[in-house]
Amino acid sequence: MIEHLYIHIPFCPNICPYCAFYKESAGRERVELFIDALLYEAKRHASALLPKTIFFGGGTPSALSFSQMERLLEGLHNTLNLSAIEEWTIEMNPATVATDKARLLYDAGINRISMGVQSWDNTLLKTLGRMHSSEKAEESFYLLRNAGFKNISIDLIFGIPNQSLIAWKKTLEKTVCLSPEHLSAYGLTYEEGTEFFRLRSRGIMKENTHLEAEQFELAEEILGNAGYQHYEISNYAKNNYESKHNLSYWLGSDYLGLGPSAFSTVQGHRWQNVSETGRYSSSTIEGKTVRDFEEELSPSLLASERAAFGLRTNQGLDFEHARPWHQAMVEMEQHGLLYRTEDRWLLTRKGFLLADTVGEIFF
Ligand SMILES: C[S@@+](CC[C@H](N)C(=O)[O-])C[C@H]1O[C@@H](n2cnc3c(N)ncnc32)[C@H](O)[C@@H]1O
Ligand code: SF4
Repeated sequence: MIEHLYIHIPFCPNICPYCAFYKESAGRERVELFIDALLYEAKRHASALLPKTIFFGGGTPSALSFSQMERLLEGLHNTLNLSAIEEWTIEMNPATVATDKARLLYDAGINRISMGVQSWDNTLLKTLGRMHSSEKAEESFYLLRNAGFKNISIDLIFGIPNQSLIAWKKTLEKTVCLSPEHLSAYGLTYEEGTEFFRLRSRGIMKENTHLEAEQFELAEEILGNAGYQHYEISNYAKNNYESKHNLSYWLGSDYLGLGPSAFSTVQGHRWQNVSETGRYSSSTIEGKTVRDFEEELSPSLLASERAAFGLRTNQGLDFEHARPWHQAMVEMEQHGLLYRTEDRWLLTRKGFLLADTVGEIFF
């Protein structure tokens, strides 16, 4: 049985200029058709699923209206066996949080929120093209708490143009004051096809890798002192609040992805659904395949992926699984990027900053 389910909900209330996730704006008819299709797709896979974790990602799943969300949740409850659920996450944009919707989610069994705050600085929120202020984000956080959510994660971004070390410090401190159970701190990436990517190619925006490294280290320090475990490069959690769903990817479990552009990996077989929502919806409803891409993963590729992802977590990579790359790892150790404990390899601080380069040794 597949224990981890990802559901991609591709709608956003507005499009942020740095973001390359597959998304579009939420026209009513398109959303209704998409919900029909998603429920069809869920039904098709129902007999293979007994989810322990579900992740509603996007896009912005919370962009669905109350009645659309109600229909989706009711449909999933009627289609899938949800008796084994331990963690059910929904990504929310603070601008789309409302009391009735929060209650609906809570009553349906969703028990974890991941909210895209990005920054508590209104000027930087403008740079990022966000549609909410920091005041609205704070109000949304408390609204979710009052609705009963005991597991809330906050997404933050560092390396934003004109974001000083002091501004980042204030954002970290403000976050610690709210005491979310989990937080993700992402370095801004200039993704191809985005407005930010174009601005960088024209020299209007610039990266400052030195400042970004300082911001990364400041996050480690402030969040560490506040009792958060740095359990994956971009992720911090209070004790026992690590994301079970994301850990399942990083530690190499099978997962099923429903919805446009979603990936699945099941028993060494990987596929991706078509990205375009209209095509995804009509093909699914007509009973046609929605797979855009499929591949068989060789045991050695699976081992490489597990090694690369495992090393990005605080569990590191045990000597047994690291054996094929031992020599390359010793070289990385000599460059100060890796260190060893009794039985495993782990990234050093410097290694965290160059994790993508370290990861290349496995492929
Ligand atoms: C799919 S969004 C989910 C949340 C919701 N859509 C929102 O924006 O509030 C996931 C997270 O990815 C991060 N993200 C997206 N694009 C990024 C980029 N180019 N660089 C760094 N982080 C990025 C943001 O922190 C965002 O909250
Ligand atoms: S960051 Fe979130 S709200 Fe903004 S475009 Fe990406 S998915 Fe949509």
